[in-house]
Amino acid sequence: MKEILKLLKKDFQEKLSQAKSREEIENLERKYLGKKGKISKLTEKITESPPEERRELGKAINELKEELQKKIEEKYQSISVSKYRDPETERLDVTLPGKKTPVGHLHPVTQTIQEIEDIFHKLGFIRRRYPEVETDWYAFEGLNMPKNHPARDIWETFYIEKDMVLTPHTSSGQIREMERVGWPVRMINISRCDRRQSDINHLPTFYQFEGLVIDERINITHLKGTLDFFVHEFFGNERAYRLRPYDFRFTEPSFEIDVTCSLCGGKGCHYCKDGWVELGGAGMVHPQVLKNGGLDPKKVSGFAFGWGVERAFMKKGNLNIDDIRILYQNDLRFLEQF
Ligand code: FA5
Repeated sequence: MKEILKLLKKDFQEKLSQAKSREEIENLERKYLGKKGKISKLTEKITESPPEERRELGKAINELKEELQKKIEEKYQSISVSKYRDPETERLDVTLPGKKTPVGHLHPVTQTIQEIEDIFHKLGFIRRRYPEVETDWYAFEGLNMPKNHPARDIWETFYIEKDMVLTPHTSSGQIREMERVGWPVRMINISRCDRRQSDINHLPTFYQFEGLVIDERINITHLKGTLDFFVHEFFGNERAYRLRPYDFRFTEPSFEIDVTCSLCGGKGCHYCKDGWVELGGAGMVHPQVLKNGGLDPKKVSGFAFGWGVERAFMKKGNLNIDDIRILYQNDLRFLEQF
């Protein structure tokens, strides 16, 4: 054992004499005197020696440890570096400008949802959210669309199980709202919808906003007035919209809502062809739907409309977005612009 101590000391001295920087000295100190260093390992071995030698061995190891420690201190001095970092040369300059933490903002679709909610709030509409997974009754059957009706095909629905679907449109909130409040109703349901669609104009998951108004003597002029207000507030004065006859099963009469194209201002271009882009559907609530919601169509009437949030956003101002899917690709170069 004594021989081992001698060799270790020799080895240490050689290495220390070659050390030129503080890092090298620190490494040696760790290697020989650290918790898991060579000296510690030797100390653990004391118990393996014959009992009469242990005391002397312990003393020798301690002496060696002290000697190595001393040599390390001397070495630090010999190369004129302090064991401790120099506060003069390595101090922190607190007057230097700091690094800014990046600050995010709401996603443009969330901003749009808030804006839509605010606009309808001015007309007394109350924001609702209805389930994202829905029964066949609320999504279709209760809206006058029996199971085998071909009109269902255009919704291209995801079925969870036999009578459960991922909500394909916010119209599924109509009967829920009637059941909840009876009448009068003035709701704006902004919720998530899913359909088996994906291309430049379609997302598999998207948002719709659905207006529903039910009261005595509600007629089509109320629908027109509400849409006038929304289009004016959301798109500004320069844009126009039109109602084009259509055939939704849950409204009668029914319309599709077209807004003048943001790219060509309604003159007609490669994107819109005739100057109009379709952004939603609307109509007067079908008497059968009122009945299904527990209301009396002889007493009350109503109108409803449903638009796509992402489509409305894309067609706002003169944003030149030609593929709706970019909204959810999480590309910061795109998102940071809003
Ligand atoms: C409907 O969903 C009807 N529920 C609208 C309605 C409500 C009619 C109330 C009458 C009364 P449509 O399938 O056309 O209709 O969708 C309405 C709007 O949702 C579309 O104009 C479009 O803006 C948006 N939309 C539909 N599918 C997608 C999709 N896959 N991705 C993005 N937006 C979509």
